[in-house]
Amino acid sequence: MEISMSELLKKEPTLIRELFDEISPYYDFMNELMTFGTIRWTRKFSVHVSGITQLEEGTILDLACGTGDFTFEILKATKHTSEVKVIAVDFSERMLFRARRKAKRILTREDLERVEWVRASAFDLPFPSESMSATFIGYGIRNMNPPQAALREIHRVTKTGGILIVLESSIPKRYLERFVNRFYFSKVVPKIASLFGLKNAYQYLAESMDKFYCPEKMEAIIKMSGWQNIKWWQLLRGSVAVHRAVKTRHPNI
Ligand SMILES: C[S@@+](CC[C@H](N)C(=O)[O-])C[C@H]1O[C@@H](n2cnc3c(N)ncnc32)[C@H](O)[C@@H]1O
Repeated sequence: MEISMSELLKKEPTLIRELFDEISPYYDFMNELMTFGTIRWTRKFSVHVSGITQLEEGTILDLACGTGDFTFEILKATKHTSEVKVIAVDFSERMLFRARRKAKRILTREDLERVEWVRASAFDLPFPSESMSATFIGYGIRNMNPPQAALREIHRVTKTGGILIVLESSIPKRYLERFVNRFYFSKVVPKIASLFGLKNAYQYLAESMDKFYCPEKMEAIIKMSGWQNIKWWQLLRGSVAVHRAVKTRHPNI
């Protein structure tokens, strides 16, 4: 993808979609490689703090589902009931293609029947208001500009009392950890990605991480978008954050 970094950082949806279409064949492999497998643990942690294992019925939205790994964790955590459905949404057809293919390979027939894959934009979700019991968004919000627009749209489709989980890269607090993180993602990862002709795409991912918010700022943005009772955790020496929020009767909008 030969587009300047400043253009990509404006996060215009068509360019972001093309970027994910382009990296889709390498996405899972690069995730495992660049995070040494820890990305799986961050998704498991997010599902754990969400409390969805208590859910007896309802619909869960996995927004920006990519190749489906977060969706598969959500399905695993709700195995106890056939009354919990999962809708996995992404705007990249090629990421969704891989998610569907992987689902057929690894899911049981019961789980396949509980999941639906939908191509749609986070800014304009094709679901009625108050229809979701919970919404997850894993490593997706960073690519949405402005994030408040997506968070408000999620707020609309989530039921009162429903929860939001935002899993995203974050800025470590300590200088040394920040320095190591920045060096690794902006110098080492793009070098590896260049082996597959994806240097620009992974440079963008590194820059967008670097320019993303600290957890306090992310909390403020989530609050500004109508959510309440916000809690957050930083993982992996501050390089990842999980925010949990609730849609209450009296939004902050
Ligand atoms: C880094 S991937 C994350 C995939 C997955 N959630 C995971 O945990 O690996 C980000 C995904 O967000 C999707 N995405 C970005 N902006 C979007 C938008 N505005 N609407 C829908 N999907 C979007 C991309 O297509 C991509 O698949």
